[in-house]
Order: sequence, then structure tokens, then C-alpha cells
Amino acid sequence: MTDEIDSTALARRFPSDFTWGFAASAYQIEGAAAQDGRGVSIWDTFARQPGAVVNGDSGDVACDHYHRYREDVGLMSEIGASAYRFSISWPRVMPTGSGAINQRGLDFYERLVDELLGAGVQPMVNLFHWDLPQALQDRGGFANPEVVGWFSDYTALIASRLGDRVSDWMTFNEPAVFAFLAHADGIHAPGLRHWPTAMRVADNQLRAHATAARTIRSAVPNARIGVAIDVNQAVPATDSDRDRLAAEGWHATRDWWFLDPLFGRGYPKDGLELHLGAGHLEGVELTDPPPGDLDYVGLNYYRRETVTAHSDRPFDWTDKVPSGAEVTDLGWHVAPDGLTAMLHEIQRRYSPKEIAVTENGAAYADKIEADGTVRDADRRSYIARHLGALADARDAGVPVTGYYVWSLLDNYEWSYGYTKRFGLVHVDFQTLRRTVKQSGRWYQELIAASR
Ligand code: FCB
Repeated sequence: MTDEIDSTALARRFPSDFTWGFAASAYQIEGAAAQDGRGVSIWDTFARQPGAVVNGDSGDVACDHYHRYREDVGLMSEIGASAYRFSISWPRVMPTGSGAINQRGLDFYERLVDELLGAGVQPMVNLFHWDLPQALQDRGGFANPEVVGWFSDYTALIASRLGDRVSDWMTFNEPAVFAFLAHADGIHAPGLRHWPTAMRVADNQLRAHATAARTIRSAVPNARIGVAIDVNQAVPATDSDRDRLAAEGWHATRDWWFLDPLFGRGYPKDGLELHLGAGHLEGVELTDPPPGDLDYVGLNYYRRETVTAHSDRPFDWTDKVPSGAEVTDLGWHVAPDGLTAMLHEIQRRYSPKEIAVTENGAAYADKIEADGTVRDADRRSYIARHLGALADARDAGVPVTGYYVWSLLDNYEWSYGYTKRFGLVHVDFQTLRRTVKQSGRWYQELIAASR
């Protein structure tokens, strides 16, 4: 074993109260899509569009976590996790997004939370991980300003049911991915390709966050409220001014586009100029959203983007992995030092009270060996090196209090369907059998050694 994956040495770099978690999302694992009164989500619809998802896969069954949650919580507890970040399926609890409530859906989340608490795993509830009720999409979805009220009502419902047992709350997962990949690039549900719509969606998520945070505060006095922002590291491909400006523009139009308003600064000027210049705001009247009320920032970090500008025009840039770079099964450039750099950058720009790395992990093409093991040394190394990078930032004073691996289980990886595996636990999608991978056992050793 090399130093980098020596769990004892690595564990020594973390305090005994550090939060070791797992992260997952409803549509990616639950299945039971048409059961117990669940309504239709935009991912149910999108997955059925020809060509939208590899193999036409949907989340109809996924990991069947809806029925197997006890086993899954048991696995987390066996590994020794102290927290679990999961999302609520809005259409499961409010089938048409507003109005009628589905009691059986709410009961599921009550059972899940009770099971977690019984196993000593703290629940972190994420209210929105992209599976909007289709009925709300039919009314304009997140581009319709009424969504602020719909989201607040839904938040009030969940807070009233779970607030007595859950103190960690998260409003949105990766608002940039939801706004831009789903409404401008067309590669996530609802599959739209219209920038002004995407910009409205971004803006309404920020407004919905502010309102929902107030809703949570009034229902859950001890709530800790956060949001998960995806910040990968963008670096210029060369030292030319053009490439440097493109890499900065990348962050300003995606990452700081959300974090600046959340920290009460309104939209960043450089990002605004770029979006305007690219025509993304045609017909959109933009005013600064209210500041977000945040106890912690959730950072989802996976990779480095190497950005090349093709001209001085805004958004005339592309990212490409440099040849020879280490990549995962998704072709994502593995760059642990980028995590250290982005933690420092967030600290420098915003000085948040607290940061949690709410997603980090890697897809590799795992297989079950004849002896029944899954030897995913590549994933173990990826996680070990990112934890080392996180510890470097902590050593330098960045207040990082937790780490949530993406993910416990192999699951539905959006438009890649079931072809990309991120789990520390292998799932056979025919039999739904779970097998802890070597990375899972290693995480278990690490957590034990840190306590
Ligand atoms: C993130 C998503 C998560 C998962 C990982 C691999 O962007 O939040 O649902 O797909 O990537």
C-alpha cells in the first residue's frame, strides 16, 4: 500500500468529529416510480425521449432503494458513515407539485429518517436534485416565477414532517447544472435548448432558495441550511490572456453566478457582461436576487476543466482534457489539487462559516471478480488523494467540516443510464444485489482510524 492510501496516516489528518458521509439522490436510486402514488417527474418523461439516455435507461427501478432502504442504511452504518445526504422526490410527496399531498410518499421519508437515526447516521435532506414534478414543468417549471411559491409550499411540507428529526437542510443541488445543462444544453431533463429560459431558471432557483430558507427557519429552529454548488476547477489551456480570461469567465458565468448573489453581492459584473454579450439574456429582465441565508456551503467537486478560447467573443471557448492526463471512466480529468485550490478560492471570496464537500467521487468500469470481490484500486486512490487535498486546505485554515462520497451505490447516472458506476458498493442491476467494493472497505478503515 502506498502512503497515499494508507488509511491510518490519512485518518490522522482529520479530527475525530469530522463528518464522513455518503451522498445520493432520489431519482438515481429509489425506483418504485409508479408506486404508492408517486407522480411523474421530468426525468420520467425525459428518459423516454428517444436518444436522450444511453440504452433508453430510466429510473423506474434504479437500485430499488425505495424497498431496500433498510439494507442500504445497514451498509452505511457498517461502513461507519456519520451522515447521509439524500434528496426528496418532490413528485413522490406532491404528485402534481402543488396542492395534493401523497401521504405514502411522506411515510417513506419518515421511515428512512428513522432508520438512519436508529443506525447513528445523521440525515441531510436535500430538497431538490433535479426531479421536478412534470405537472409543474407543464406550467413552465423553474422558468415560471411562481415556482418560488410552489417550492416554498413543498419545503414547508417536508420541514413540518421531518424538521423534528432533521437539522441539516439543503435547498438545491448544483443549480448551474440544472439551469444550464437542462435548459440551454438540452442534455438533462427537461431537455430544453434556450439560454434565456436557462437564465430565468438560474434566477428563480436563487429566489426560491431565499424564500425556502425562511420557510425552513420558521419550522426548524435549529436548522443548518446549505446549498450544493458544483465548482470544478477551470484553468487556461495556455498562458495567453485570451485563455486566462476564458477560464475566469467560465467560473464567473457558472460558479460565482450563484455564489455571489447567495452571499449578498448580486450577480458578478464580469459574468453579467459575458452572458449579455452572448445573448443569453435576451428578453430577460434581471434584478439581483435576495441574499441566501447559508450556514454552510456545499461544494461538489469532481474534476479540472482546461479551457481554450477560440476568439474574444463571450462563450467562444471549449474545455478539453490535455493529452496524457489521468481520467476516469467518464473522461473526467482527475485533479485533486484543484479541490485544494477551489476550497481556498471559495474561502478567499466569501469566507463562509463552514464548507462541506457534499459530493466527490469517480466512475470506473468495475467488475465482480470470480472470488466475488470488486477491486477498485483506482477509485480508492481517487478518494484518498482528494481527501489528502481536502486535508491540505484544512491545514491552511479553510473550515471544511465534512466529506460526502458520491455515492454509496452504483446508480442511474443521468444521461449515461446505468453504464457509469460511482458506488463504493457495487449493484448488479439484474438482481439488485449489493456488494461492498474494496474502496468501501477502505473507507470503513479510514473512518474507524479517524475516531
Ligand atoms: C453530480 C450530480 C450527481 C451525480 C454526480 C456524478 O453532478 O449532482 O447527481 O450525477 O455528478
